[in-house]
Amino acid sequence: MDIAILGTGNVGTALATGWARAGHRIRLGTRRPADPALAPLLAATGAQAMAATAAVDGADAIALALPWAAVPAVLAELGELAGRLLIDCTNPLGMVNGQLGLLIGHDDSGGEEVQALVPAAHVVKTLNQVGAEMMADNAALPHRPVMFMAGNDDGAKAVTAGLLADLGFDPLDAGPISTARLLEPFGMMWIHQALLRGKGRDWAFAAVASA
Ligand SMILES: NC(=O)c1ccc[n+]([C@@H]2O[C@H](COP(=O)([O-])OP(=O)(O)OC[C@H]3O[C@@H](n4cnc5c(N)ncnc54)[C@H](OP(=O)(O)O)[C@@H]3O)[C@@H](O)[C@H]2O)c1
Repeated sequence: MDIAILGTGNVGTALATGWARAGHRIRLGTRRPADPALAPLLAATGAQAMAATAAVDGADAIALALPWAAVPAVLAELGELAGRLLIDCTNPLGMVNGQLGLLIGHDDSGGEEVQALVPAAHVVKTLNQVGAEMMADNAALPHRPVMFMAGNDDGAKAVTAGLLADLGFDPLDAGPISTARLLEPFGMMWIHQALLRGKGRDWAFAAVASA
């Protein structure tokens, strides 16, 4: 597939690495396509760097790997994205009562806000639940890690499930986009364990069943 990844930070780099390894063609949507600092990533993945508008043009899937605050402006540049698969990897993080937390929750979610910004797109919230390192390579884990996804379009979730499997995850459908209300605090739990409880970044959640 042709995959546009918007953002070349921790998550954008990890997804480009994992999906290129699985044989996908990667376009990186970036504000700085000519930046020499991108050269190692482009060389390692065969990706091309370009403006976000060019990256999404004709792409089979678009992954949002941007800071939460940058999402509205970047999506506004991209138009309606009608019928397009938009994989929302963001978490609506910010300072809440003096510590890192979710700016939105309980009766709304970042996933729903992204869907509201591009109502005709097929938004799937996922890849927000573990650290970027686990997206780039989780082969050393003793169990296949789970990755929930939330979205309103079953076809978009089926395509996303394949892309999650390509990254080594066990994809699990959480339900409609409103279940992003559950997935974002779940991601926050990973962050809390990794950064505040000393568990580090080399782990992921697994869904383990008897059959
Ligand atoms: N880091 C993790 O382990 C992790 C895990 C799960 C989910 N997430 C979520 O994934 C998202 C990305 O996280 P990250 O750690 O990859 O962030 P990051 O390392 O800061 O990278 C974000 C990228 O977005 C682009 N960007 C930044 N500001 C922008 C702006 N104002 N307008 C347009 N583009 C901008 C930049 O790429 P260019 O300079 O190339 O444009 C930047 O490299 C966040 O919402 C985060 O909460 C992160």
